[in-house]
Amino acid sequence: MSTLAPPVITFADERHLESLMMVMRASFDSAYGEAWSTLQLGGSIGMASSFTRQALGRDGRAIGFTLCRAAGPEVELLLIAVEPTQRGNGLGQRLVETAIQDSWRRGASELILEVRENNIAARTLYEKSGFRSVGHRPDYYAGSDGTKFGAITMKRLLDDLG
Ligand SMILES: CC(C)(COP(=O)(O)OP(=O)(O)OC[C@H]1O[C@@H](n2cnc3c(N)ncnc32)[C@H](O)[C@@H]1OP(=O)(O)O)[C@@H](O)C(=O)NCCC(=O)NCCS
Repeated sequence: MSTLAPPVITFADERHLESLMMVMRASFDSAYGEAWSTLQLGGSIGMASSFTRQALGRDGRAIGFTLCRAAGPEVELLLIAVEPTQRGNGLGQRLVETAIQDSWRRGASELILEVRENNIAARTLYEKSGFRSVGHRPDYYAGSDGTKFGAITMKRLLDDLG
């Protein structure tokens, strides 16, 4: 019988900044310049309108996280990352589902996000979690060599929860 417990997902705060930054640095392809700096992440985690979740591995270290920010009836999923060695096991989907539940519990009616249009893994994950494309922003992201990439705006209505 397996004794492996699934990663526990807990709320994170400023105390977890450095371990979240380790996940950030390992997770985002530098070609796209999407990783946030410690200053950016620290500033966002500390905002009253933000909520951050982390998935803890068996050694208690963060192996994935999400960062969301509430604005009126909307919550925006600003970041999601799962360490490369932990991918393909359903953790990204659990983190998205947790963000959906958290947003609904806070009284939001929709969860929105922007995703680079050639980020197939993330787009497929979001579609599987009930997000639908609602817009396209050309040249929204700039890669490290200056190449521009479009973004898709996606929305997950939360009216089926409850
Ligand atoms: C996107 C990301 C969070 C997915 O994490 P993950 O733990 O591997 O995702 P899951 O294992 O939960 O996959 C859930 C579903 O997403 C889709 N998916 C995940 N990885 C995929 C890939 N490489 N290609 C196509 N679809 C993929 C699949 O439909 C999958 O379901 P399935 O395994 O039943 O087919 C991860 O790849 C990541 O951290 N990427 C870098 C950071 C990033 O781009 N974040 C998004 C922008 S902020």
